[in-house]
Amino acid sequence: MKVGKILIKEDEIRKRVTELGDEISRDYRDKTPTLVSILKGGIIFLSDLVRSLSILHEMDFMSVSSYNGGTESSGVVRILADLSINIEGRDVIIVEDIVDTGLTLDYIRHILLARHPKSLRICTLLDKKARRRVDVPLDYVGFEIPDAFVIGYGLDYGEKYRHLPYIAILEPDD
Ligand code: IMP
Repeated sequence: MKVGKILIKEDEIRKRVTELGDEISRDYRDKTPTLVSILKGGIIFLSDLVRSLSILHEMDFMSVSSYNGGTESSGVVRILADLSINIEGRDVIIVEDIVDTGLTLDYIRHILLARHPKSLRICTLLDKKARRRVDVPLDYVGFEIPDAFVIGYGLDYGEKYRHLPYIAILEPDD
C-alpha cells in the first residue's frame, strides 16, 4: 500500500484546527476543560489544537485498540492505558482523530460518562459519516470525509504514515 491522493492539505488542516481552537476557547471561556486524547492517532491533532487554545486546560491520554493493524474495525474495543486524572466533576472534551463506525467513541464515551464528569463533549478532526454504525454526538468536527481509508496527521496504516503533515488516501501499490 502507498500514499495516494492528498485529501486535506497541511494549510487547510492548520486553518481548521485554529478555528476549532477558537471555538472551544469561546465555549469554555470561564472553565478549565480536560482534553482527553485517544492515543495514538489523536496525538498530533491534540498537540496542534491545544496551541490554538487561549484558555487554561488540562490534557490526559487514553489508549484503546479497536483495529488489529488493518483497515476494518473489529468491533472489539480494549483499554490499553487509562487516564491518570480523576475526571469526576470536570468539563471533559474527548479529542479524536477520526470517527468511522463510531464503535470506539461510543465505548469510550460510556466509560467516561460512568465516571461522572460535569460535562462531556467530543471533538474529532475527521468524520467519516457514511460508515457510522452507532450514533455518537459530535460537538466539534474538523472535516467530513468520504468513505476511504486515510493516513497522515496522526492516522496510521499498520503504525506507519502518522508523520505525514497532510491527510491522504491509502492506495494499493501499482
Ligand atoms: P471506529 O470505531 O470505527 O469509529 O474507528 C475509530 C478508530 O479507527 C480511529 O480512532 C482510528 O484509530 C481508526 N480508523 C478509522 N478509520 C480510519 C482511517 O481511515 N485511517 C486510519 N485509522 C482509521
